[in-house]
Amino acid sequence: QQYSTGSSYIMAIDSGTTSVRAMIVDAYGCIVAQASRSIKTTYPHPGWVEQDPTEILASQIAVMMEVQFKSGIHSDGIEAIGITNQRETTVVWDRDSGQPIYNAIGWQCRRTAPLAQRLVDEGCEDMIRAKTGLTPDAYFSATKVAWILDNVSGARELAESGQLLFGTIDSWLIFNLTGGLVFATDYTNASRTMLFNIHTLDWDDELLELLNIPRRMLPEVRWSSGEFGRVSTDIMTHRPRIMGVAGDQQASLFGHCCFEPGQAKNTYGTGCFMLMNTGDTVVESKNGLVATIGIAEQGKVSYALEGSIFHAGSVIQWLRDKLQIIGSAKETEGIALSRPDNGGCYLVPAFSGLGAPWWDAGARGLICGLTGASDRSSLVRAACESMAYQSHDVLRAMEADAGSRLDSLSVDGGASRNEFIMQFQADLLGIPVDQTESVETTALGAAYLAGLAVGYWEDHEELRQNHDYAKRFMPQMNEEDRARNLAGWHDAVARARSMRA
Ligand code: G3P
Repeated sequence: QQYSTGSSYIMAIDSGTTSVRAMIVDAYGCIVAQASRSIKTTYPHPGWVEQDPTEILASQIAVMMEVQFKSGIHSDGIEAIGITNQRETTVVWDRDSGQPIYNAIGWQCRRTAPLAQRLVDEGCEDMIRAKTGLTPDAYFSATKVAWILDNVSGARELAESGQLLFGTIDSWLIFNLTGGLVFATDYTNASRTMLFNIHTLDWDDELLELLNIPRRMLPEVRWSSGEFGRVSTDIMTHRPRIMGVAGDQQASLFGHCCFEPGQAKNTYGTGCFMLMNTGDTVVESKNGLVATIGIAEQGKVSYALEGSIFHAGSVIQWLRDKLQIIGSAKETEGIALSRPDNGGCYLVPAFSGLGAPWWDAGARGLICGLTGASDRSSLVRAACESMAYQSHDVLRAMEADAGSRLDSLSVDGGASRNEFIMQFQADLLGIPVDQTESVETTALGAAYLAGLAVGYWEDHEELRQNHDYAKRFMPQMNEEDRARNLAGWHDAVARARSMRA
């Protein structure tokens, strides 16, 4: 690989669900240094998911410092910063003290499922879908903000008086990194709140009223590639500018160079997210996907179809931390490959209901098909396969909505390095699966957005030249096995859906 010998770089900040990272990217799109820290998640009640915003911020700043120290590249060598983040996760804080009034409510949190259901029961589903592109669900930020205002003592009065601010993790970081000077988000993150009209590109008063959320708590919405303020001097001496911001899945779409309509990618992170660029058309899904803002460069919005799967890498974490049947995620590849097949065992990771394409908040996780011969390897293999099965269902829904077939699928994220999962994915889909050369496509997307805004990179074409694939997985499974596997999976999904929470 070629590395730049130049003296200027882009810093990418990736504030994910399980870890926060900082990376230094050179002109060839190579990551020359990186630092990361894990982030704690708490589960105060079944289905509730919270994180500490101050921990996210402190860890983010720590890795920004660490990566400079490690690389010897300091703030005078950083041309611009790009931020990407876990989306939907909701923080409400006091505009003067900067203190959050409650923990961050995680995107996976189901506590507001009854409120989301109420919106459906009251007949608001079509209106919400038409304006936001989204299916009313607890996944998106809107009901989480409403919950904080309704449940934290005094919050509503403070919000109405203009004292409280709401933001997704990008806004929380921007506000704090700029010393409280900039309160903003970008179009991609805004489109995940279920409060943003993706056609008018503005917060929607009808939705705000419906959920009783004062407009004055919302951030200004800006283009993903453009100015978001300078980092304050106590964090980085030379105060580089934040010039790119995008939700992690949209950043990854950009990092994959999916600039044209019809191009799609799948990222295997904590969850699994497949996005297809639909250009200037908002495709209203008939098959359980959502429409969202995909790319929002200066002056132009491209929309995307998205299939959001709530549990992917988190299933492997569960095997490691809760069942304690593996020591590390890496082991799963060898264990899964040690079996000729799944032996009829399926795991449906509906730990917080099912997202796309089912949108079933009441479904619960399930392992089925066990026999006396089942062992640790059966569970590990079923867990690995579950990522590929879920992605299969989303891809078929996407093809049905788009009215076209995909020729290949471009993948990134942790599990994209697991050869068993990728081969199984190609087998189920019947199309080649292309693993990107860099596993950090999300961070690269954020770096690209920032770099384009300051002229570090000229245009899309230059970015395309940086983009390469490491490996292509060709489908090998015969039709009969594929059909049998999929039938077993869909039977298991139906059982998970019948186990109401
Ligand atoms: O919508 C949630 C998503 O943005 C989280 O991504 O990579 O943390 O699983 P990840």
